[in-house]
Amino acid sequence: MMPHLLATAMFAGAMIVATVSAPLADEGDDDGVPQYVVKDDGSVNKATYQGYRRYHMECHRCHGADGLGHLAPDLVNSLKTMDYETFMEIAVNGVEANIKSTGGVMPGFGANPNLGPYLDNIYMYLKARADGKLAPGRPDRFDREELNF
Ligand code: HEC
Repeated sequence: MMPHLLATAMFAGAMIVATVSAPLADEGDDDGVPQYVVKDDGSVNKATYQGYRRYHMECHRCHGADGLGHLAPDLVNSLKTMDYETFMEIAVNGVEANIKSTGGVMPGFGANPNLGPYLDNIYMYLKARADGKLAPGRPDRFDREELNF
């Protein structure tokens, strides 16, 4: 309990969290940017699948199903140009001025235990969508069998 709370508090305090290791963000490039894995058949690794699930727990109610925008900006489009650090800064800390939409403010999710540790996974999922590698809808997971649940 205690170490987890501490880790969450530290996560919330970090402005730029490039070095935070989210539970399933095991695929990072040399700069620590999490990398999705999508096979030719459209199936994804567990970390990217986790991002799909976590995105649709919360973000979708403002940003729309499949990341395509609703009250808040289309994040599939945003991630075509937005880098990982900027994404994390916004996802962790939120946006104070509501300039891009009338859908309300963008809250920060860094301190949310259901989302804060999974923002890397959400990034992977949205980046795969932005790169045109992943179709809308629930992806299959190619590593499901190894995981035993
Ligand atoms: C209560 C509604 C709401 C929820 C829930 C929400 N957002 Fe947002 N988000 C917004 C709004 C509104 C903006 C636009 C802020 C502005 O005016 O710049 C935004 C902007 C963003 C941006 C910047 C987009 C750009 O192109 O500038 C990112 C990235 C983002 N949100 C990620 C997320 C993620 C990841 C989640 C889920 C963990 C999430 N948001 C959940 C409302 C929301």
